[in-house]
Amino acid sequence: MACPVMKDPDRYLATRERSFVVGLVKRWVEERAVRRCLRDLPDLRTVCDAPSGPGRLFHLWKKLGFAVTGVDLSAPMLGEAERRLTRLGHPGEVRLGDAFSLRQSLPEGADLVSCVRFAYYFDEGDRVRLLASLAAASHRFVLVQYKTIETPRGLRNRRRAAAREGADLFSNKRFCTIEGIAAEFRRAGLVLRRHGFIGRSSDRVFALAEKTSRPAPLVPSADRLWSPVAH
Ligand SMILES: C[S@@+](CC[C@H](N)C(=O)[O-])C[C@H]1O[C@@H](n2cnc3c(N)ncnc32)[C@H](O)[C@@H]1O
Repeated sequence: MACPVMKDPDRYLATRERSFVVGLVKRWVEERAVRRCLRDLPDLRTVCDAPSGPGRLFHLWKKLGFAVTGVDLSAPMLGEAERRLTRLGHPGEVRLGDAFSLRQSLPEGADLVSCVRFAYYFDEGDRVRLLASLAAASHRFVLVQYKTIETPRGLRNRRRAAAREGADLFSNKRFCTIEGIAAEFRRAGLVLRRHGFIGRSSDRVFALAEKTSRPAPLVPSADRLWSPVAH
């Protein structure tokens, strides 16, 4: 299974935020989890949102003061993302590109690479490939949203699916434990630093990782000093 390249930004946004109030609440709890993960991190100035879709999270990057680069494989999604940036009056740009080879579309890198509503479309091996690609495009931090069985909602969803499939609770590797996420990160050269559950009634968790080694020199050469990661 893979994530489809989505063509209809309006439809995508309508399904995410079914009503104004539901949309507001979902946005608030999601933002709270992201903010918890990013609290007090040093030197964050740029974020690459990959895949950005229609730029659903751009308002948050603006609030946090990060210049944004949105990357997606869908031109219609990027069209909406670009309109959003203009409406927000926020510095940034969008680029057509593949999250699995992110550095190709982001050779200069970003302080934070964020990947939301995407990783759980893939099996473990592909997720590790994805993480390695995100890490290669990041100067230091990677933020990934996962599905987890470690919330009441996640456990319930997974139990129901397992009953339908006649499988056991842990057979579906798309619902991860925090320990499993940490192990995947390690395989991709990342170390899990923090995680933030969206809430009891969500099956999602944000996981923040840091690169375990200094990045290979990026092109064009960056003019900042990279702090080595503490182990
Ligand atoms: C579920 S949306 C998530 C968008 C956004 N991160 C959000 O939270 O709303 C997934 C997006 O991934 C894009 N996509 C699918 N495969 C991709 C790939 N290999 N590289 C980059 N974007 C991809 C789709 O076009 C779609 O816009």
